[in-house]
Amino acid sequence: MKDIDWSNLSFGYMKTDWNVRIWYKDGAWGEIEESDSEYMPMHIAATCLHYGQEAFEGLKAFMGQDGKVRVFRMKDNAKRLQSSCKRTMMPELPVDTFCEMVRRVVRLNKDYIPPFESGASLYIRPLLIGTSPEVGVKPAREYCCLMFATPVGPYFKGGFQTTAYALVRSYDRSAPLGMGKYKVGGNYAASLYAHNLAHEKGYSSEFYLDAKEKKYIDECGAANFIGIKGNSYVTPKSTSILPSIVNRSLIHIAGDNGMDIEIRQVPFDELGEFDEAGACGTAAVISPIERIDDIETGKSYIISRDGKPGPVLTKLYNQLRDIQYGIVPDPYDWTTIIDL
Ligand SMILES: Cc1ncc(COP(=O)(O)O)c(C=O)c1O
Repeated sequence: MKDIDWSNLSFGYMKTDWNVRIWYKDGAWGEIEESDSEYMPMHIAATCLHYGQEAFEGLKAFMGQDGKVRVFRMKDNAKRLQSSCKRTMMPELPVDTFCEMVRRVVRLNKDYIPPFESGASLYIRPLLIGTSPEVGVKPAREYCCLMFATPVGPYFKGGFQTTAYALVRSYDRSAPLGMGKYKVGGNYAASLYAHNLAHEKGYSSEFYLDAKEKKYIDECGAANFIGIKGNSYVTPKSTSILPSIVNRSLIHIAGDNGMDIEIRQVPFDELGEFDEAGACGTAAVISPIERIDDIETGKSYIISRDGKPGPVLTKLYNQLRDIQYGIVPDPYDWTTIIDL
Protein backbone atom coordinates (compact mmCIF):
# COMPACT_ATOMS: atom_id res chain seq x y z
CA MET A 1 0.00 0.00 0.00
CA LYS A 2 1.24 3.48 -0.88
CA ASP A 3 2.21 6.01 1.75
CA ILE A 4 -0.71 8.40 1.30
CA ASP A 5 -2.59 10.52 3.82
CA TRP A 6 -5.80 8.56 3.15
CA SER A 7 -8.00 10.50 5.55
CA ASN A 8 -7.29 13.82 3.88
CA LEU A 9 -7.85 12.90 0.26
CA SER A 10 -9.88 15.33 -1.80
CA PHE A 11 -12.10 14.49 -4.76
CA GLY A 12 -9.32 15.14 -7.23
CA TYR A 13 -6.84 13.45 -9.56
CA MET A 14 -3.82 11.67 -8.18
CA LYS A 15 -1.41 9.83 -10.43
CA THR A 16 -1.59 6.06 -10.10
CA ASP A 17 0.58 3.41 -11.73
CA TRP A 18 -1.53 1.99 -14.53
CA ASN A 19 -4.45 2.63 -16.84
CA VAL A 20 -6.07 0.28 -19.35
CA ARG A 21 -7.04 1.00 -22.93
CA ILE A 22 -8.77 -0.69 -25.81
CA TRP A 23 -8.89 0.48 -29.40
CA TYR A 24 -11.62 0.13 -32.00
CA LYS A 25 -10.29 -0.18 -35.55
CA ASP A 26 -11.63 -1.66 -38.79
CA GLY A 27 -15.04 -2.18 -37.23
CA ALA A 28 -13.91 -4.22 -34.20
CA TRP A 29 -12.58 -3.82 -30.66
CA GLY A 30 -9.03 -5.10 -30.12
CA GLU A 31 -7.43 -6.49 -26.96
CA ILE A 32 -7.22 -4.67 -23.61
CA GLU A 33 -3.81 -3.01 -23.21
CA GLU A 34 -2.10 -1.83 -20.04
CA SER A 35 -0.28 1.50 -19.98
CA ASP A 36 1.86 3.26 -17.40
CA SER A 37 1.63 6.59 -19.23
CA GLU A 38 -0.69 9.39 -18.17
CA TYR A 39 -0.78 10.63 -21.73
CA MET A 40 -2.13 9.40 -25.02
CA PRO A 41 -1.00 10.40 -28.48
CA MET A 42 -3.83 12.10 -30.29
CA HIS A 43 -4.43 13.06 -33.90
CA ILE A 44 -4.94 16.81 -34.17
CA ALA A 45 -8.16 16.26 -36.14
CA ALA A 46 -9.61 13.59 -33.81
CA THR A 47 -13.41 13.95 -33.58
CA CYS A 48 -13.33 14.03 -29.76
CA LEU A 49 -11.29 17.21 -29.88
CA HIS A 50 -13.41 19.11 -32.40
CA TYR A 51 -16.91 17.75 -32.14
CA GLY A 52 -16.94 16.44 -28.60
CA GLN A 53 -17.45 12.87 -29.71
CA GLU A 54 -16.89 11.42 -26.26
CA ALA A 55 -18.68 9.80 -23.35
CA PHE A 56 -17.49 8.86 -19.89
CA GLU A 57 -18.49 7.10 -16.68
CA GLY A 58 -17.65 7.17 -13.01
CA LEU A 59 -17.74 4.31 -10.51
CA LYS A 60 -15.97 3.29 -7.35
CA ALA A 61 -14.15 0.39 -5.72
CA PHE A 62 -14.33 0.13 -1.92
CA MET A 63 -12.05 -1.65 0.52
CA GLY A 64 -14.46 -3.49 2.78
CA GLN A 65 -14.41 -4.05 6.49
CA ASP A 66 -13.66 -7.70 5.65
CA GLY A 67 -10.61 -6.78 3.52
CA LYS A 68 -12.43 -7.55 0.26
CA VAL A 69 -12.59 -5.03 -2.56
CA ARG A 70 -16.03 -4.37 -4.00
CA VAL A 71 -17.03 -2.48 -7.13
CA PHE A 72 -20.55 -1.10 -7.15
CA ARG A 73 -22.94 -1.90 -10.05
CA MET A 74 -20.34 -1.87 -12.80
CA LYS A 75 -22.64 -3.56 -15.31
CA ASP A 76 -25.01 -0.62 -15.00
CA ASN A 77 -22.20 1.82 -15.79
CA ALA A 78 -21.29 -0.37 -18.77
CA LYS A 79 -24.86 -0.21 -20.06
CA ARG A 80 -25.11 3.54 -19.51
CA LEU A 81 -21.88 4.01 -21.47
CA GLN A 82 -23.42 1.97 -24.27
CA SER A 83 -26.45 4.23 -24.35
CA SER A 84 -24.19 7.35 -24.46
CA CYS A 85 -22.22 5.74 -27.31
CA LYS A 86 -25.34 4.97 -29.29
CA ARG A 87 -26.51 8.60 -29.08
CA THR A 88 -23.10 9.96 -30.11
CA MET A 89 -22.58 7.49 -32.97
CA MET A 90 -19.74 5.66 -31.23
CA PRO A 91 -19.35 1.86 -31.15
CA GLU A 92 -20.72 0.24 -28.01
CA LEU A 93 -18.16 -1.47 -25.81
CA PRO A 94 -19.43 -4.93 -24.77
CA VAL A 95 -20.49 -5.09 -21.10
CA ASP A 96 -18.10 -7.99 -20.40
CA THR A 97 -15.14 -6.06 -21.85
CA PHE A 98 -16.04 -3.02 -19.74
CA CYS A 99 -16.18 -5.18 -16.61
CA GLU A 100 -12.87 -6.87 -17.42
CA MET A 101 -11.26 -3.44 -17.84
CA VAL A 102 -12.62 -2.38 -14.44
CA ARG A 103 -11.21 -5.54 -12.83
CA ARG A 104 -7.83 -4.99 -14.47
CA VAL A 105 -7.51 -1.31 -13.56
CA VAL A 106 -8.45 -2.00 -9.93
CA ARG A 107 -6.05 -4.92 -9.66
CA LEU A 108 -3.18 -3.02 -11.29
CA ASN A 109 -3.65 -0.10 -8.89
CA LYS A 110 -4.46 -2.11 -5.78
CA ASP A 111 -1.88 -0.19 -3.73
CA TYR A 112 -3.98 2.94 -4.20
CA ILE A 113 -7.22 1.52 -2.78
CA PRO A 114 -7.84 3.53 0.39
CA PRO A 115 -8.16 1.50 3.60
CA PHE A 116 -11.64 0.85 5.00
CA GLU A 117 -11.18 3.14 8.02
CA SER A 118 -10.45 6.19 5.85
CA GLY A 119 -13.96 6.34 4.34
CA ALA A 120 -12.27 7.02 0.99
CA SER A 121 -12.46 4.91 -2.17
CA LEU A 122 -10.84 4.23 -5.53
CA TYR A 123 -12.62 6.19 -8.25
CA ILE A 124 -12.64 4.59 -11.68
CA ARG A 125 -13.02 6.86 -14.68
CA PRO A 126 -13.81 5.17 -18.01
CA LEU A 127 -13.96 7.32 -21.12
CA LEU A 128 -14.61 6.55 -24.76
CA ILE A 129 -13.53 8.91 -27.54
CA GLY A 130 -13.44 9.25 -31.31
CA THR A 131 -9.75 9.27 -32.24
CA SER A 132 -9.49 9.24 -36.02
CA PRO A 133 -9.32 12.44 -38.08
CA GLU A 134 -12.31 14.18 -39.66
CA VAL A 135 -12.89 17.77 -40.60
CA GLY A 136 -16.51 17.51 -41.68
CA VAL A 137 -19.05 16.87 -38.92
CA LYS A 138 -19.19 13.11 -38.92
CA PRO A 139 -18.37 10.24 -36.58
CA ALA A 140 -14.83 8.89 -36.38
CA ARG A 141 -13.85 5.52 -37.76
CA GLU A 142 -11.55 4.71 -34.84
CA TYR A 143 -12.11 4.93 -31.08
CA CYS A 144 -10.38 4.39 -27.78
CA CYS A 145 -11.88 3.41 -24.47
CA LEU A 146 -9.58 4.21 -21.57
CA MET A 147 -9.96 3.63 -17.84
CA PHE A 148 -7.89 5.13 -15.10
CA ALA A 149 -8.28 4.92 -11.35
CA THR A 150 -7.48 7.44 -8.65
CA PRO A 151 -8.05 7.44 -4.88
CA VAL A 152 -10.66 9.96 -3.76
CA GLY A 153 -11.98 11.30 -0.50
CA PRO A 154 -15.45 12.69 0.04
CA TYR A 155 -16.87 14.94 -2.70
CA PHE A 156 -17.70 17.61 -0.15
CA LYS A 157 -14.98 18.30 2.38
CA GLY A 158 -17.32 18.19 5.35
CA GLY A 159 -18.66 14.72 4.43
CA PHE A 160 -22.30 13.92 5.20
CA GLN A 161 -23.69 17.32 6.09
CA THR A 162 -26.11 19.78 4.52
CA THR A 163 -25.05 22.42 2.02
CA ALA A 164 -26.85 25.19 0.16
CA TYR A 165 -27.60 25.24 -3.58
CA ALA A 166 -28.14 28.12 -5.99
CA LEU A 167 -31.09 27.86 -8.35
CA VAL A 168 -29.94 29.28 -11.70
CA ARG A 169 -32.37 30.27 -14.43
CA SER A 170 -30.08 31.94 -16.94
CA TYR A 171 -28.03 28.89 -17.90
CA ASP A 172 -29.34 25.46 -18.91
CA ARG A 173 -27.24 22.37 -18.79
CA SER A 174 -29.27 20.45 -21.32
CA ALA A 175 -32.29 20.74 -23.63
CA PRO A 176 -35.34 18.49 -23.12
CA LEU A 177 -34.49 16.34 -26.14
CA GLY A 178 -30.75 17.00 -25.96
CA MET A 179 -27.97 15.09 -24.30
CA GLY A 180 -28.80 15.49 -20.60
CA LYS A 181 -29.67 11.84 -20.11
CA TYR A 182 -26.31 10.75 -21.52
CA LYS A 183 -22.97 11.10 -19.78
CA VAL A 184 -21.14 13.12 -22.41
CA GLY A 185 -18.50 15.78 -21.81
CA GLY A 186 -20.47 18.60 -23.46
CA ASN A 187 -23.06 18.56 -20.67
CA TYR A 188 -20.34 19.23 -18.15
CA ALA A 189 -18.75 21.98 -20.24
CA ALA A 190 -22.26 23.51 -20.40
CA SER A 191 -22.48 23.42 -16.62
CA LEU A 192 -19.12 24.98 -15.74
CA TYR A 193 -20.22 28.61 -15.95
CA ALA A 194 -23.27 28.21 -13.73
CA HIS A 195 -21.28 26.01 -11.37
CA ASN A 196 -18.62 28.68 -11.01
CA LEU A 197 -21.27 31.33 -10.48
CA ALA A 198 -22.80 29.30 -7.67
CA HIS A 199 -19.37 28.62 -6.16
CA GLU A 200 -18.35 32.26 -6.19
CA LYS A 201 -21.49 33.08 -4.24
CA GLY A 202 -20.60 30.47 -1.64
CA TYR A 203 -22.98 27.67 -2.71
CA SER A 204 -21.86 24.08 -3.00
CA SER A 205 -23.43 23.73 -6.42
CA GLU A 206 -25.96 25.01 -8.93
CA PHE A 207 -29.52 23.74 -9.22
CA TYR A 208 -31.33 23.46 -12.56
CA LEU A 209 -34.95 23.74 -13.59
CA ASP A 210 -36.27 22.18 -16.78
CA ALA A 211 -34.99 24.17 -19.76
CA LYS A 212 -38.35 24.50 -21.53
CA GLU A 213 -40.81 25.76 -18.94
CA LYS A 214 -38.53 26.62 -16.01
CA LYS A 215 -41.18 25.05 -13.86
CA TYR A 216 -39.91 21.64 -12.82
CA ILE A 217 -36.86 20.47 -10.90
CA ASP A 218 -34.23 18.95 -13.19
CA GLU A 219 -30.71 18.23 -11.93
CA CYS A 220 -28.95 19.22 -8.76
CA GLY A 221 -25.59 20.20 -10.26
CA ALA A 222 -24.04 16.89 -11.36
CA ALA A 223 -26.43 14.81 -9.28
CA ASN A 224 -30.09 13.75 -9.20
CA PHE A 225 -32.54 15.44 -6.84
CA ILE A 226 -34.41 13.49 -4.20
CA GLY A 227 -37.05 14.88 -1.86
CA ILE A 228 -38.64 13.22 1.15
CA LYS A 229 -42.21 14.11 1.99
CA GLY A 230 -43.79 12.07 4.77
CA ASN A 231 -43.36 8.46 3.71
CA SER A 232 -42.70 9.35 0.06
CA TYR A 233 -39.43 9.32 -1.85
CA VAL A 234 -39.87 11.85 -4.65
CA THR A 235 -37.50 12.20 -7.60
CA PRO A 236 -37.94 14.06 -10.90
CA LYS A 237 -38.97 12.39 -14.13
CA SER A 238 -37.32 14.32 -16.92
CA THR A 239 -35.88 13.65 -20.37
CA SER A 240 -32.84 15.76 -19.57
CA ILE A 241 -31.45 14.24 -16.39
CA LEU A 242 -28.84 11.52 -16.16
CA PRO A 243 -30.33 8.20 -14.98
CA SER A 244 -28.35 7.98 -11.74
CA ILE A 245 -27.32 4.50 -10.65
CA VAL A 246 -27.20 5.63 -7.02
CA ASN A 247 -30.70 7.09 -7.29
CA ARG A 248 -31.97 3.81 -8.78
CA SER A 249 -30.35 1.95 -5.88
CA LEU A 250 -31.79 4.30 -3.23
CA ILE A 251 -35.24 3.94 -4.81
CA HIS A 252 -34.91 0.18 -4.41
CA ILE A 253 -33.81 0.41 -0.79
CA ALA A 254 -36.47 3.04 0.04
CA GLY A 255 -39.13 0.79 -1.50
CA ASP A 256 -37.88 -2.12 0.60
CA ASN A 257 -38.03 0.18 3.66
CA GLY A 258 -41.75 0.54 2.95
CA MET A 259 -41.61 4.01 1.41
CA ASP A 260 -43.83 5.14 -1.45
CA ILE A 261 -41.83 6.01 -4.56
CA GLU A 262 -42.89 8.94 -6.71
CA ILE A 263 -41.00 9.37 -9.99
CA ARG A 264 -42.74 12.32 -11.59
CA GLN A 265 -42.38 15.90 -12.66
CA VAL A 266 -41.64 17.91 -9.52
CA PRO A 267 -42.71 21.59 -9.71
CA PHE A 268 -40.04 23.67 -7.97
CA ASP A 269 -42.80 25.35 -5.94
CA GLU A 270 -43.03 22.04 -4.13
CA LEU A 271 -39.54 22.62 -2.68
CA GLY A 272 -41.08 24.22 0.38
CA GLU A 273 -43.03 21.04 1.14
CA PHE A 274 -40.16 18.58 1.51
CA ASP A 275 -39.14 17.40 4.96
CA GLU A 276 -35.72 16.50 3.59
CA ALA A 277 -33.95 16.78 0.27
CA GLY A 278 -30.65 15.72 -1.19
CA ALA A 279 -28.48 15.40 -4.26
CA CYS A 280 -27.43 11.86 -5.07
CA GLY A 281 -24.71 10.23 -7.13
CA THR A 282 -21.56 8.12 -7.05
CA ALA A 283 -19.36 10.93 -5.74
CA ALA A 284 -21.16 11.50 -2.44
CA VAL A 285 -24.01 8.92 -2.38
CA ILE A 286 -26.28 11.59 -0.85
CA SER A 287 -25.48 15.25 -0.20
CA PRO A 288 -28.26 16.57 2.01
CA ILE A 289 -29.60 19.99 1.03
CA GLU A 290 -29.90 22.73 3.61
CA ARG A 291 -31.65 25.26 1.37
CA ILE A 292 -32.01 26.30 -2.21
CA ASP A 293 -31.72 30.00 -2.99
CA ASP A 294 -33.27 31.35 -6.16
CA ILE A 295 -30.44 33.76 -6.93
CA GLU A 296 -32.53 35.71 -9.42
CA THR A 297 -35.72 36.25 -7.42
CA GLY A 298 -34.04 36.22 -4.01
CA LYS A 299 -36.49 33.61 -2.71
CA SER A 300 -35.09 30.98 -0.37
CA TYR A 301 -36.47 27.46 0.03
CA ILE A 302 -35.36 26.19 3.41
CA ILE A 303 -35.28 22.41 3.62
CA SER A 304 -33.36 21.76 6.82
CA ARG A 305 -34.35 24.19 9.57
CA ASP A 306 -31.71 23.02 12.02
CA GLY A 307 -29.05 22.69 9.29
CA LYS A 308 -28.66 18.97 9.92
CA PRO A 309 -29.32 16.00 7.60
CA GLY A 310 -32.75 14.46 8.20
CA PRO A 311 -33.34 10.93 9.53
CA VAL A 312 -34.70 9.36 6.33
CA LEU A 313 -31.82 10.38 4.08
CA THR A 314 -29.32 9.55 6.82
CA LYS A 315 -30.75 6.04 7.06
CA LEU A 316 -30.72 5.54 3.26
CA TYR A 317 -27.17 6.88 3.05
CA ASN A 318 -25.98 4.47 5.73
CA GLN A 319 -27.82 1.53 4.19
CA LEU A 320 -26.21 2.05 0.79
CA ARG A 321 -22.73 2.75 2.20
CA ASP A 322 -22.94 -0.37 4.35
CA ILE A 323 -23.54 -2.45 1.22
CA GLN A 324 -20.70 -0.76 -0.66
CA TYR A 325 -18.22 -1.33 2.18
CA GLY A 326 -19.37 -4.89 2.85
CA ILE A 327 -20.53 -4.01 6.37
CA VAL A 328 -23.83 -5.77 5.67
CA PRO A 329 -24.54 -8.51 3.10
CA ASP A 330 -25.58 -7.26 -0.34
CA PRO A 331 -29.09 -8.63 -0.88
CA TYR A 332 -29.34 -7.06 -4.33
CA ASP A 333 -26.21 -8.48 -5.95
CA TRP A 334 -25.00 -4.96 -6.76
CA THR A 335 -21.41 -5.44 -5.70
CA THR A 336 -18.66 -7.42 -7.45
CA ILE A 337 -15.74 -8.65 -5.38
CA ILE A 338 -12.45 -8.13 -7.22
CA ASP A 339 -9.82 -10.83 -6.69
CA LEU A 340 -6.60 -8.93 -6.23
C1 LIG B 1 -25.32 15.02 -14.25
C2 LIG B 1 -25.28 13.89 -13.31
N1 LIG B 1 -26.43 13.49 -12.73
C3 LIG B 1 -26.45 12.45 -11.87
C4 LIG B 1 -25.31 11.77 -11.52
C5 LIG B 1 -25.37 10.61 -10.59
O1 LIG B 1 -25.25 9.41 -11.30
P1 LIG B 1 -24.65 8.12 -10.60
O2 LIG B 1 -25.53 7.80 -9.45
O3 LIG B 1 -24.73 7.05 -11.64
O4 LIG B 1 -23.28 8.44 -10.21
C6 LIG B 1 -24.09 12.16 -12.10
C7 LIG B 1 -22.83 11.48 -11.74
O5 LIG B 1 -22.44 10.53 -12.31
C8 LIG B 1 -24.07 13.22 -13.02
O6 LIG B 1 -22.93 13.62 -13.58
